[in-house]
Amino acid sequence: MIEVQHLTKFFGSKRAVDDISFTLEKGEILGFLGPNGAGKSTTMRMITGFMPPSGGTAVIGGHDIRRDSLEARRKLGYLPENAPVYPDMSVFDYLDFCAEIRGFTGADRKKRVGDTIDKCFLGGVRHQTIGTLSKGYKQRVCFAQSILHDPEYLIMDEPTDGLDPNQKHEVRLMIREMSAEKAIILSTHILDEVDAVCTRAIIIAEGRIQADDTPAGLRTRSPYHGAVSLTFGPTDSGKLMSTLRSVEGVKNTILIDESRSEVSVRVLPRTRETLIADRIMAALSRDRYDLKSMYVEQGRLDEVFRNITM
Ligand SMILES: Nc1ncnc2c1ncn2[C@@H]1O[C@H](COP(=O)(O)OP(=O)(O)O)[C@@H](O)[C@H]1O
Ligand SMILES: [Mg+2]
Repeated sequence: MIEVQHLTKFFGSKRAVDDISFTLEKGEILGFLGPNGAGKSTTMRMITGFMPPSGGTAVIGGHDIRRDSLEARRKLGYLPENAPVYPDMSVFDYLDFCAEIRGFTGADRKKRVGDTIDKCFLGGVRHQTIGTLSKGYKQRVCFAQSILHDPEYLIMDEPTDGLDPNQKHEVRLMIREMSAEKAIILSTHILDEVDAVCTRAIIIAEGRIQADDTPAGLRTRSPYHGAVSLTFGPTDSGKLMSTLRSVEGVKNTILIDESRSEVSVRVLPRTRETLIADRIMAALSRDRYDLKSMYVEQGRLDEVFRNITM
C-alpha cells in the first residue's frame, strides 16, 4: 500500500503542493491529472524520495520515505519526467548498471536485464548508444529501468509523453499487464489515457486534490451526463421541441442542428439522476416521429476536467 499523508512543498514562499493525502492499494492504477504546474511532478518526486517534503510524508509498503528511505526506495520503481538517462552508455550497459546498483549479481542480473530488454521491445537497439536513440526509445529505456527490479510500487511521470500512437498503446498495455500485483501511479494530461488505463483518477490543481474518483464516477459530474441526444429525419422542429419539453423530468431541450434532411436535439434531464430516455421514447412513438438515432450521454472527462480546473 502507498499512504500519502499531508504532503506539502514550498518553493520559497510558493506552495506548489498543498496538503495532499490519499492511499493506494495493489491492483489500482491511479492517474494524476491536472494542468501544467499543478504540482503532479513535485508530488511524485516527494513520494519517491527524490525531493524532501516541506511537510507530511509518504509510506511505501510500511516504510516511511523520510525515516526509512532506502527500504522504501527498494520497493519503488520511478520513471521521472523527460527520461533522464545517461546518453553515453549503450542500452545494455545502462540497464546492467541499473541492475548492479539495485544489488543484482551474476546469472540473476544477466537474466533480469535480458528479460527487461525483451519486455520493453529494446532487443533491436540493445547495443546502441542511448544518446543516438529517438525520444520514444529513450523513454522506453527509462521505463525499462523503472521496472527492472519488478517493484511492488511504480511511479511514472508522463510515461507516454512524446510517444507515437502505437508506442503509447504498447506502454499502456504493459502498464495494465503489470497492474495486478502492483500499485501504480502515473501522471498524464491525456484524458483518454485515464480512461484507457486507470482504475482511479485524482485531479490536482494549484497543488490540491480537487477530485478523487473512478473515471466513470468523474464522468457523472459532466453537465451532459444523462442527457439524451436524438436525431430525426425531416421534422417540424418547433412541434418536436414542444413534445420533448412536455416529457416529465425534462429540464431543457437544445436544438443542435437542423437541415432539410435531419434535425438533431439534446435533451437535458431535471437532475443527473432523472432517467428520461424511456419517457422520451414513449412520447415520440405516440406522435410517430421519424427517430433515426438516440443515445444517453455518459459525459466526457474533458468537460469535467475543465469545470474542475478552470
Ligand atoms: N525545483 C523547483 N523550484 C522552484 N519551483 C518549482 C520547482 N519545481 C517545480 N516548481 C514549481 O512548482 C509548481 C508545480 O510544478 P510541477 O510539480 O512540475 O507541476 P506539474 O508536474 O503538475 O506540471 C510550478 O509552479 C513549478 O514552476
Ligand atoms: Mg510534471
